[in-house]
Amino acid sequence: MRHLLEVDDLTRAELVRVLDLAVDPSPPRVLEGRGMGLVFEKPSARTRNSMEMAVVQLGGHPVYIQASEVGLDTRESVEDVTRTLACYHAAIGARVFAHSTVERMAAMDLVPIVNMLSDGAHPLQALADVLTMRQLLGDLAGRTVAYVGDANNVFRSLGLAAGMLGMEVRFAGPPGYRPSAVDADRIAAAGVEVHEFERPEEAVDGTDVVYTDVWTSMGQEEESAKRLQDFEGYRVDERLMAAAGDRALLLHCLPAHRGEEVSDGVVDGPASRVWPQAENRMHAARGLLAWLLGEAAGAETGGAT
Ligand code: CP
Ligand code: NVA
Repeated sequence: MRHLLEVDDLTRAELVRVLDLAVDPSPPRVLEGRGMGLVFEKPSARTRNSMEMAVVQLGGHPVYIQASEVGLDTRESVEDVTRTLACYHAAIGARVFAHSTVERMAAMDLVPIVNMLSDGAHPLQALADVLTMRQLLGDLAGRTVAYVGDANNVFRSLGLAAGMLGMEVRFAGPPGYRPSAVDADRIAAAGVEVHEFERPEEAVDGTDVVYTDVWTSMGQEEESAKRLQDFEGYRVDERLMAAAGDRALLLHCLPAHRGEEVSDGVVDGPASRVWPQAENRMHAARGLLAWLLGEAAGAETGGAT
């Protein structure tokens, strides 16, 4: 049984296959007459809607579930919730605080589990990101993405996906928010090297893509005042985009905290491709599910049919 908890759960060839399925005009209807449970511990605009529509486009029926309703580890254990949902659904998606929650779900091996964002990873976002860059730039080998900000869940998954496709991955963030040794090892295990820069201006110089994400992720709200101070100088604004050069495009997973990590002028400006990127969340999710419940499932039926 295959799961998607992080991008490196896929081989490079599988990642390419998922991206190809994402642009397949008639993907296999692998969810015909089947359900997918989508459990959310945190809010969402893009992930919920793109996943629901991807499930519909594959012939299935999505069921949105607030984690507080099923009471993950309060009303019932994560394992018992997973067992229950697997009685009805062909797959389960989960947006959680602790990455260990999706690991516990996947360890049961009942139905494929898709990480819809955890504190550790955001693989569905990274699939949409590399799909977007492939559409904008063609073959990604030798291209450059410069991430400016916090080495968070979005950065980890993006670094893996972009690096696996041969991109040069650059990073600039303040001390205390740079990739940890564990992150660097995991990324290196996928054959990817992250080039770290002291100053954001150096990181973005000549890059194809500048990428940023919020300085305060969901669940870190009590740190937001400190983070606002610590990240000063790392805002992606007109000055930084000028340092990047004429051809640099802007990506952001959204939601944007306008005026913090990105200026209004940049997110709404000519270099921005954040709306095609947001749309690609649906296409990438469809490609992933078509692969996960189709080719990757092989002869397995995987849960309720
Ligand atoms: N990028 C992203 O995951 O957006 P949502 O939090 O709105 O789902
Ligand atoms: N890093 C952000 C991404 C939101 C899509 C968070 O985890 O809140």
